[in-house]
Amino acid sequence: MIKLPESIDLANLPTKIEKLDRLSKYLNGPEIYIKRDDQTGSEFSGNKVRKLEFAVQEALNEGCDYLITCGGIQSNHARATAAVAAKLGIGSYLVLRTNKEEMIDGNYFLDGVLGAKIRFITAEEYRERRMEIMKEVKEELDKKGHKAYIIPEGSSNGIGAFGYFKAMEEIFEQEKEMGIKFDAIVLAVGSGGTYAGLFYANKYYKNNAKVYGINVCDDEKYFKNAINNILYESFQYTKESIEFFKDEINIIDGYVGKGYALSRPEEITFIHELAKLEGVILDPVYTGKAMYGLVEEIKKGNFKEHNNILFIHTGGLFGLFPQKGMFKF
Ligand SMILES: Cc1ncc(COP(=O)(O)O)c(C=O)c1O
Repeated sequence: MIKLPESIDLANLPTKIEKLDRLSKYLNGPEIYIKRDDQTGSEFSGNKVRKLEFAVQEALNEGCDYLITCGGIQSNHARATAAVAAKLGIGSYLVLRTNKEEMIDGNYFLDGVLGAKIRFITAEEYRERRMEIMKEVKEELDKKGHKAYIIPEGSSNGIGAFGYFKAMEEIFEQEKEMGIKFDAIVLAVGSGGTYAGLFYANKYYKNNAKVYGINVCDDEKYFKNAINNILYESFQYTKESIEFFKDEINIIDGYVGKGYALSRPEEITFIHELAKLEGVILDPVYTGKAMYGLVEEIKKGNFKEHNNILFIHTGGLFGLFPQKGMFKF
């Protein structure tokens, strides 16, 4: 039996799995289910808190009293980190990417409400030297007598990925309870940690579902490498590696659209239609693009080999508010 690193309980688990009856009927193909990881909490909501359960436990074990992380201005991960820090009575410092004066809205607004300290950096600085900048922040905090712990973008590293290893075990339990076998698991990929954890557990337990990631930035090659690297970091914790080929990491490329966090009208229309059809609200940056991609792929006949698809709703609702101008009622 694999021994996962220690973790702290933060998320509301297990999250529900619901069937999207009307969407499945409309597509007239495989049955589509959705796992409501957008309901892991309200302040915590989304996939990041599962990863933080492992990363933050490691920080606490090291005696840290500050969490430093980074992301885009509307980062769900940064907001979840600020929420977790406040919940635990420790500090949070967010290094956020922006090139302009930002409206106080969505996740960024909540970061402030949750008491996070914020440093803005440009897109170029973010690309070139975000880790260096976080290390500088750590030095400043450490000089003031704190002990700070750096969480990389999206908490997508060896330790964070265990959040989704555990989520896969949760899915296996739910399959038993529901009497259903999911033969495809589909999710948005932004930094790769969620995918890595699901893939690891899927292989480790010799489950034969296919795990598909739909990338919302970069490309297939980038994520095959990134996920491969995260997996090797995770193996160092468990000392239990799995054998796999990089080509088994299924990335469906082609739905980045205008670019990271930029929406096309058809994606917004899709989010709106699905909300009216199923009462499920997706976000514009991750889940909206991924579910849009899944539906397009089903329409093209590319999911014919599957009977029961599980889409992971990884959250992101707060990121919808800054995009309100794109919706027409
Ligand atoms: C709402 C939401 N969904 C999906 C993802 C992608 O997860 P990952 O970064 O683990 O690939 C993120 C973060 O990047 C997110 O905030």
